[in-house]
Amino acid sequence: MMRLTTACGMLVAALWLSAAAQAEPFAKADPRIGEKLHAEAKCNACHASRMGGDGGRMYTRPGHKVKDAQGLLKMVQFCVDRTGAMVFPEDVVHIAAYLNRQFYKFQQ
Ligand code: HEC
Repeated sequence: MMRLTTACGMLVAALWLSAAAQAEPFAKADPRIGEKLHAEAKCNACHASRMGGDGGRMYTRPGHKVKDAQGLLKMVQFCVDRTGAMVFPEDVVHIAAYLNRQFYKFQQ
C-alpha cells in the first residue's frame, strides 16, 4: 500500500511538471539573455523606424503575423536571416522567449 502511494505521488509530480512545462513554450530559454540580444542585434531600431518610433508595435500591431509560439520562433529566425542581424542559431530561442514574455504571452 505504501509503495502504491509513493508511485501515485510521483505520477502526480510528473504530470504537474509537464503541465508547468507546457504553460511556458520556451521553458528552457532565458528571456533575460533574449532581451539583451534583442537590444544588441538592433531589432528594435529597425522595427521602430517602421512603426513610427515604437518598435514594440511591430509585435502588437493589428493583424501582426505571429500567431503562436512556433510561428514566433520562425519569425525571429526569418528576421535574423533576412536582416543579417548577428545572432547565433542557439540564441534565437532566447529572443523568442523574451518576446513571448514581453509581448505575445503564448501559453504553449
Ligand atoms: C532591417 C530591418 C529589421 C531588422 C534589423 C529586424 N527586423 Fe523584425 N521585422 C522587420 C519587418 C519589416 C517586419 C514585418 C514583416 C512583415 O510584416 O512581413 C518584421 C517583423 C518581425 C516579427 C513579426 C512581428 C509580428 O508579429 O508580425 C518578429 C517576431 C521580428 N520581426 C523579430 C525580429 C528580431 C528578433 C530581430 C533582431 C534579431 C529583428 N526582427 C530585426 C524588419 C526588421
